[in-house]
Amino acid sequence: MERFAKRIQNAPRSFTRKILDVIGAKDIISFAGGLPDESLFPHELIKKEMNYSLEHLPRSMYQYSQAQGAIELRSELAKTYTNSNENQILVTTGSQQGLDILCKAFIDQGDTIVVEAPSYLAALNLFALYDANIEEVSLSSKGVDTVQLENLFKTKKPKFFYAIPTFQNPTGWSWENECKKEVSRLAKKYNVVVIEDSPYNALKYEDKDELGFEELLPELSVTLGTFSKTLVPDFRLGWMRADEKFLKVFQSMKENTDLQSPKFFQYIVANMIKDGNLDLHVKTLIETYRVKRDAMKKALKEEFGKTIEFETPKGGMFFWIKFDDKIDTMKLFEVAIKSNVAFVPGSVFYKNDEPTPYARLNFTNATIQDIKIGVKRLKLALTQYNAKHD
Ligand SMILES: Cc1ncc(COP(=O)(O)O)c(C=O)c1O
Repeated sequence: MERFAKRIQNAPRSFTRKILDVIGAKDIISFAGGLPDESLFPHELIKKEMNYSLEHLPRSMYQYSQAQGAIELRSELAKTYTNSNENQILVTTGSQQGLDILCKAFIDQGDTIVVEAPSYLAALNLFALYDANIEEVSLSSKGVDTVQLENLFKTKKPKFFYAIPTFQNPTGWSWENECKKEVSRLAKKYNVVVIEDSPYNALKYEDKDELGFEELLPELSVTLGTFSKTLVPDFRLGWMRADEKFLKVFQSMKENTDLQSPKFFQYIVANMIKDGNLDLHVKTLIETYRVKRDAMKKALKEEFGKTIEFETPKGGMFFWIKFDDKIDTMKLFEVAIKSNVAFVPGSVFYKNDEPTPYARLNFTNATIQDIKIGVKRLKLALTQYNAKHD
């Protein structure tokens, strides 16, 4: 082990790997992963678009090219933002690469960054690998605690504030627009970069406008986007939107990592945006996921009644449920696995991994039938847990 860098020796344990093992196990109904519904992957559409690209694109598409990404895709992406052009877009190998680029660009050992509590597990692990000092700001269903945040900005001088303000992972919550405005004001006052990770924004089940930091704070914010949730994760296609002064540095970090993301997929996706097929596909996802969300809500209410608390997510992929305060969901997870149902215990989404009564349940991957059975199994697991711990 000594031959490895200290960052490897001190690497945080990965619950992600455990989730993936569990998902693979036969007979388990998994609400654990943040996975799309495989039956909705638009295989025929992808085949058609790939064939079209193979027929029409020049041989040069196979050649090495600059790291920023195909102009065809960047200009389509730029249109989704009100304040940005294609020179403010960098195509990435998934938004996970965007996170890695941010760490390379901003974090020296011991530098402070701020995250929501709770926050995205793989980002927390990554920030720890880069030896960041992670500070947490409390999150509620209305947004972050801006008094706490101001105090952290003032006293800790963070390099950036990483947030998922819309349909968050793990909670499914969205900050109110007033909160977003206040965070922008604080970011300007204390000169802190806001990273808006936005993988779930397009999966919107209610008619409500969500403000983005690109509008509120164009020069001091970075937006991370991805096609993993709206198309397929396997294309590994995402993007970063930022002011050009940041983007040039990010581009050079990307060059050092993988030179460029595959252009073939960029052309295909650019075309799908242009011909309107991606939009149509997202509409189908929204219709289906809304029904699944409602099925999980109904099942949770029927099985658990008032013994759990949750907000109905207005978008995204997750329910964040709170059991009775005395329940440790990490222990409940072990019982649930034996009842053939999986979820993610809330503690893994916090820096210190302390026991919590919270759990994240994904509603997009399982079938409606499995959602009903899985929630029943979860209720059974809770009954067994209570019998053991009373
Ligand atoms: C908040 C958040 N950020 C980033 C990612 C990574 O997505 P990608 O597949 O684009 O790398 C995920 C995936 O679940 C996520 O939930």
